Amino acid sequence: MGLCTLISFFLSTFFLQTLSSLDFPIGSQVSLPIPSIYQPGFKGRAYVLDSSSNSSKFRVALNVEAISGRYFCSLIVLFDDFKVWASDHVVKFIPASKCVLELTHDGNLQLMDQFGFIGWQSGTSYRGVKMLHLEEHIGNLVLIDEANQIIWQCFSHPTDTILWGQQLKAPLPLTVFPTNSSVFYSFEIIQEKVVAYIYWRKNKYSYWQLKPHGNRTIEFMRLGTRGLKIFNQDSHKIAQILSDGTDPIQLFTMGIDGNLGFYHYSLKLGRVKPSYKLLGSCDLPLACGLYGICSPQNTCRYLQTGSIRDEINDRFETGMYNGICELFGDEVEMVQLKGVESILRSPYFILNISEESCVNSCMENCSCDSVVYSDQEKRCFQFGLVAGAREVYGENGQSFWVKMPKEKRDGTSNDTVKKFVAIGGRSNICKQASLLNRSSDWYSTILNPVPG
Ligand SMILES: *[C@@H]1O[C@H](CO)[C@@H](O)[C@H](O)[C@H]1NC(C)=O
Ligand SMILES: *[C@@H]1O[C@H](CO)[C@@H](O)[C@H](O)[C@H]1NC(C)=O
Ligand SMILES: *[C@@H]1O[C@H](CO)[C@@H](O)[C@H](O)[C@H]1NC(C)=O
Ligand SMILES: *[C@@H]1O[C@H](CO)[C@@H](O)[C@H](O)[C@H]1NC(C)=O
Ligand SMILES: *[C@@H]1O[C@H](CO)[C@@H](O)[C@H](O)[C@H]1NC(C)=O
Ligand SMILES: *[C@@H]1O[C@H](CO)[C@@H](O)[C@H](O)[C@H]1NC(C)=O
Ligand SMILES: *[C@@H]1O[C@H](CO)[C@@H](O)[C@H](O)[C@H]1NC(C)=O
Repeated sequence: MGLCTLISFFLSTFFLQTLSSLDFPIGSQVSLPIPSIYQPGFKGRAYVLDSSSNSSKFRVALNVEAISGRYFCSLIVLFDDFKVWASDHVVKFIPASKCVLELTHDGNLQLMDQFGFIGWQSGTSYRGVKMLHLEEHIGNLVLIDEANQIIWQCFSHPTDTILWGQQLKAPLPLTVFPTNSSVFYSFEIIQEKVVAYIYWRKNKYSYWQLKPHGNRTIEFMRLGTRGLKIFNQDSHKIAQILSDGTDPIQLFTMGIDGNLGFYHYSLKLGRVKPSYKLLGSCDLPLACGLYGICSPQNTCRYLQTGSIRDEINDRFETGMYNGICELFGDEVEMVQLKGVESILRSPYFILNISEESCVNSCMENCSCDSVVYSDQEKRCFQFGLVAGAREVYGENGQSFWVKMPKEKRDGTSNDTVKKFVAIGGRSNICKQASLLNRSSDWYSTILNPVPG
């Protein structure tokens, strides 16, 4: 693998034309050539705005990047070298020959290619935009008019990161779209809860949530120096998620594995460093891929043999996975996993149903790969995937059933299934105690509630 080619085009002529390095007036244009041959790892950047004061490390760049055989063109905001906003977070722009950033005379900020094809735009024509401006202390990229009123701002278009001082307002989520995956993750405000979801096909499953005390509707969140503060409609703080580090928090981001984390700037190391991650590896939906089980030592064990597992996970990554019965037809059966729980919850469930009917409903449904049955509420959650499985000791009032190929269990995988079926029976008193802690903390916990 070759080293990344980092080419930074500092356009000195452009900088001479602007009043300061924080402003990009209407009529300005910057462009980057696209290499004619594909070079894996290529990155081309033209820094457009730069906050050079010492307390601030924000820069705005026109960015060309090589990913999976293509060149993408985007406008990005960097905190040090950490990408905190990108125009192509959701929709990628593949330009022909050239990547051009222009703030048109009528006030539209746009990315184009050689032929004038527009790949992204702010949509702010004829609204009096005077310039693009970088708010140097907070990293907000704004389009302002003659009266310095904000017409458009990147803070209103959250991607996977929020910066210190930035608000995340319902209903806008943070999102992450991992490359080579058929899923994406989101961090959303849903009325009285904050929830992390994994989306797959038409389904979404939650794997983390925070519900402040009482029944108060969450209006917005704001990132402070110590963590994320959660506010109601009256702008009263009703909860917070604190980082456990001592360094002042600079940003909060959702990673490509769906984890949520706080970051700070380390003066000693001169770069952005993680302060605290909200979730452990076994709390992540795809910690061990499909049909994998995460253990407290953060190792993975599998319910399928190597070749089947590879096939399932390859299909899953390329968006071709449609459930285990597409691969095995009728040759499947439902197996209860003892000592294993799912961290996933579906917002859709069937109430007032027996365990047997719950398991049968999955067996008869080719879009169902697993169910979680809760004894107490007689509640049946159906899942299109076997994901988010992790070991748990003893009973937790729930049973986890997965659809498995029949004959394959008698082959080499025989071993694995049997082992997991047996785990629950062997727990000793110590393990029972740890069960109570583990099963109560994994879902729907109230973190650092604030009275009032
Ligand atoms: C910026 O940092 C440099 C080196 O750390 C220092 O010499 C300079 O005085 C600082 N400038 C301001 C405005 O703080
Ligand atoms: C995505 O998949 C392609 C083709 O399978 C591969 O070349 C590329 O390296 C993968 N990218 C990542 C980020 O894994
Ligand atoms: C919470 O609010 C919902 C509707 O807003 C209401 O139906 C429910 O009874 C409330 N629950 C409590 C515990 O106040
Ligand atoms: C649940 O089932 C019982 C017995 O079949 C029935 O009496 C009750 O109304 C059901 N409850 C709901 C919420 O459907
Ligand atoms: C089949 O299972 C899927 C879970 O992937 C669920 O969303 C769907 O509602 C189920 N269909 C029926 C008819 O139960
Ligand atoms: C299946 O498991 C049993 C006992 O756990 C073992 O004796 C047997 O050899 C296994 N079969 C295969 C094919 O590995
Ligand atoms: C968790 O376990 C520890 C030690 O076993 C115990 O002291 C503590 O009270 C437990 N916490 C809960 C919430 O059960």
